[in-house]
Amino acid sequence: IASAAPGADGTGVEVIAHRGASADAPENTLAAVDEALTQGADSIEIDLQRTADGHLVLLHDSTLARTTDVATVFPDRAGEPVGGFTLAELKRLDAGSWFGPAFAGERIPTLAELLARIGDRAGLLIELKDPASYPGIEQQVADGIGAPRADLVVQSFDHDAMRRFAAVAPDVPAGWLFGTRPTEAELDAAAAVADQINPSFRVTDAELVTAVRARGMETGVYTVNSEADMRRMIDAGVHRIITDVPAALRAVLG
Ligand code: G3P
Ligand code: CA
Repeated sequence: IASAAPGADGTGVEVIAHRGASADAPENTLAAVDEALTQGADSIEIDLQRTADGHLVLLHDSTLARTTDVATVFPDRAGEPVGGFTLAELKRLDAGSWFGPAFAGERIPTLAELLARIGDRAGLLIELKDPASYPGIEQQVADGIGAPRADLVVQSFDHDAMRRFAAVAPDVPAGWLFGTRPTEAELDAAAAVADQINPSFRVTDAELVTAVRARGMETGVYTVNSEADMRRMIDAGVHRIITDVPAALRAVLG
């Protein structure tokens, strides 16, 4: 992956909008993408799942209950997994009103709609969310993104899925997510197929960043929203920071 080695002053640190600029717009919607671009994000992180009829869509949770009006539109299905709904059914849902009335009518976007909206204005960090529930999604994502672009990365907490993705899309940069601090053995395993180690900032320090770098990979931390934590991660030498507040990180980077 071509990116500047970050300096302790933050030079070269990439600003990634978490689920779009999700502090200021409803997560994983085109409104959050627009807000991320307005706030100067270098790249946009989204969560990807699949509908019952095979469409790739943006959603974080396993159900629609928190971020849509599913309980109103489909009163008996609020607890049903995302993958039980067709795209036509998902498109009936309001994915914005839960966040605020200004976003009423926002829809759940497809991957194709997302790619069209971003164009070449920012990079894209796709998280395969619960890929074990969506057999074959690795190949489908590889097909759906078309020609590899330098500013595209695919990541997941499911490292077996990332191994499958590396097999079908060896040219697309890959990230392994970690909720706990990766062990040396896990870093060694990742290095065989991954370009990035993307851990929680809570388990990340300069020692971990150095261990990742020594294996030829880069570090991107999630989800960093306070100025103090941003500064701590910049000082630790991370390459990229995933945040709900891209404008705040941009201000810290100066
Ligand atoms: O990009 C990493 C981060 O998004 C992982 O956590 O729960 O927000 O998907 P989550
Ligand atoms: Ca995510």
